[in-house]
Amino acid sequence: MEENRIIPTHVSIIMDGNGRWAKQRGLERVSGHKEGRESVRACVTCAAKTGIKYLSLFAFSEENWNRPVKEVSALMDLLVDSIAAELGRFVENNIRVLVLGNRKRLNPIVQNSIRSAEEKTASCTGMTLIIFLSYSGKWDIFQAAQRMAADMAADPKRKFSMEDFDSYLVTAGIPDPDLIIRTSGEQRISNYLLWQAAYSEFYITDIMWPDFREKELTDAIEEFSRRDRRYGKVK
Ligand code: FPP
Repeated sequence: MEENRIIPTHVSIIMDGNGRWAKQRGLERVSGHKEGRESVRACVTCAAKTGIKYLSLFAFSEENWNRPVKEVSALMDLLVDSIAAELGRFVENNIRVLVLGNRKRLNPIVQNSIRSAEEKTASCTGMTLIIFLSYSGKWDIFQAAQRMAADMAADPKRKFSMEDFDSYLVTAGIPDPDLIIRTSGEQRISNYLLWQAAYSEFYITDIMWPDFREKELTDAIEEFSRRDRRYGKVK
């Protein structure tokens, strides 16, 4: 590992390829998700050890509700089980958990599980682990616009800035991702952090999510360290 590498403040991951990983091995899709959970574990540990302040994971999109009911419920069960299994470790390691997305669509068991994880880790000051659940970028921008429009109507004299708009997004107060990683080789944003990704660096790897572990995350951070970020300016 390079000594003077630049550690991104916020790393976000589009975890993709669980289904294909399973198919390649003649297994059910859910086996891919189960193995993917081990990658989540490995990456959370590695990110916290590396000094990353925010690690966010795209766990379930608004569009994923259109998957077969069996797969959706397997994913929700896996999430609830993972939270229950890892909660103690999050507290021990000072990791704060936040779940962001359209929570109204989640069933009460999932809602209770995430509320409890958020409450029990609320005072943790180390890394923040953000799980995007029932999330889409367009949904986030739309709900933010609706809420800001209501505040504008209620207070017509008040001027609103672009920065004010940030505070209506579900990611209010969280720095935009410096690095967005996508596994499984797909080269698209898939309705993820559309507003927040304005100047994120992208890292796309052919590795399927269940095979993306500590070494793979470390490689991505090293590659990020070599990027020249100009934000549209001339250096
Ligand atoms: C994408 O693979 C992956 C998902 C939709 C779910 C990711 C969920 C986990 C890894 C479960 C555990 C999560 C947490 C946060 C504990 P895909 O099904 O789209 O794969 P494919 O593109 O190959 O079909």
